[in-house]
Amino acid sequence: MSLLELDGVKVHFPVKKGLFFDRTVGHVYAVDGVSLSVEAGQTYGLVGESGCGKTTLGRAVLRLNDITDGAVVFDGTDLAKLPSEEMRAFRRRLQMVFQDPLGSLNPRQNIESILAEGMAAHNIGKDQAERREKIKEILAKVGLPSNAMSRYPHEFSGGQRQRIGIARALVLEPDVIICDEPVSALDVSVQAQVINLLEELQESLGLTYLVIAHDLAVVRHISDVIGVMYLGGLVEEAPSDALYAGPRHPYTKALMSAVPVPDPEVEDRRERILLHGDLPSPANPPAGCRFHTRCPWVQETKCATERPPLLDTGDGHKVACHFTAEIEAGTVKQTLATGIEAVISTEAVATEAVEVSEGDAETADAPVKKEEEPATVPAQADAGEAERAEESPKA
Ligand SMILES: Nc1ncnc2c1ncn2[C@@H]1O[C@H](COP(=O)(O)OP(=O)(O)OP(=O)(O)O)[C@@H](O)[C@H]1O
Ligand code: SF4
Ligand SMILES: [Mg+2]
Repeated sequence: MSLLELDGVKVHFPVKKGLFFDRTVGHVYAVDGVSLSVEAGQTYGLVGESGCGKTTLGRAVLRLNDITDGAVVFDGTDLAKLPSEEMRAFRRRLQMVFQDPLGSLNPRQNIESILAEGMAAHNIGKDQAERREKIKEILAKVGLPSNAMSRYPHEFSGGQRQRIGIARALVLEPDVIICDEPVSALDVSVQAQVINLLEELQESLGLTYLVIAHDLAVVRHISDVIGVMYLGGLVEEAPSDALYAGPRHPYTKALMSAVPVPDPEVEDRRERILLHGDLPSPANPPAGCRFHTRCPWVQETKCATERPPLLDTGDGHKVACHFTAEIEAGTVKQTLATGIEAVISTEAVATEAVEVSEGDAETADAPVKKEEEPATVPAQADAGEAERAEESPKA
């Protein structure tokens, strides 16, 4: 059994109206049926664009949000059903590191006081002296000097503050750390240092991570398994290498096609799928496949009516799309039917791109992308054209 298992987790926020906000007029389907497993000592990377429900899912694991439905099984116990008092003991074992370290650190407390607070609440260390020793040890582990204890959050740089956030989680000796956008607020040069620190700590302390990010490059190296989220649900999940070598879901293909390739020749010729349009509102998600309003491969049958389940397509590579096999085989082509706002560029050289990117696709080292106007085809010129496209059969 995995250390952390989510089964059909849903978090729906009621939308209230009325003078006293006493009428529920709808729901925000922020997380809508997510199942995933995180193995002990491993890292699960969760990616997806802003608003797709990543933070809500992370908070649900810690029961910081009410879970509408589903199970969150941690070390054999379903946390979703646990009374609040019993949940307290599990809170220590599951910690969270936030995106904005300054916002999550009390500016009026010094670092020792911030770190000791949680320790005292969870009865770690028998007295202040013992807690102080532990704090010193953890500060050294995260690469901060011991004199940091008497200083205040504003005296540190962004990267150092994130180290304090990590130290605050570590002093509680957790098993799992949920890192929500742990480096998105940091300079690119500092991002790698913090990611490396997380990896070192995982190795030395045997930690298990759920790392949330909107940036594929951030989760790539640290993750064993990556899950791609779209509008409250997982659309693809695979071992990290397999996902980068061959994304299978149209949404992941689009995300990956936006990552530059370090070989200028391949970069010029590779397929680029630019998704237009915003994420639909999670208060009113599209029926059927949630991605069908933006999918460049959308088909007339099933896509708008049946929600595709996340199915294993082999070797643990799971995809939620009715046409995975056909898209791989090329028997279902990209289509510019009504409802799609996609711009599709030149011919596919995906395999070549993947070979090169597998070699040394360190995005930091990647040369600046050569700007070449792709041979674009507007998805939808006008409403009349859209109607006509709707009537005509799709490829
Ligand atoms: N307490 C809440 N009440 C109502 N709606 C909420 C609440 N918290 C989040 N939401 C909504 O749920 C959806 C998912 O939000 P969430 O913060 O989980 O997204 P995210 O993937 O973490 O985005 P980001 O990358 O911007 O952090 C959003 O539409 C958000 O507005
Ligand atoms: S089910 Fe249809 S709309 Fe959804 S990703 Fe697959 S092809 Fe696109
Ligand atoms: Mg978030």
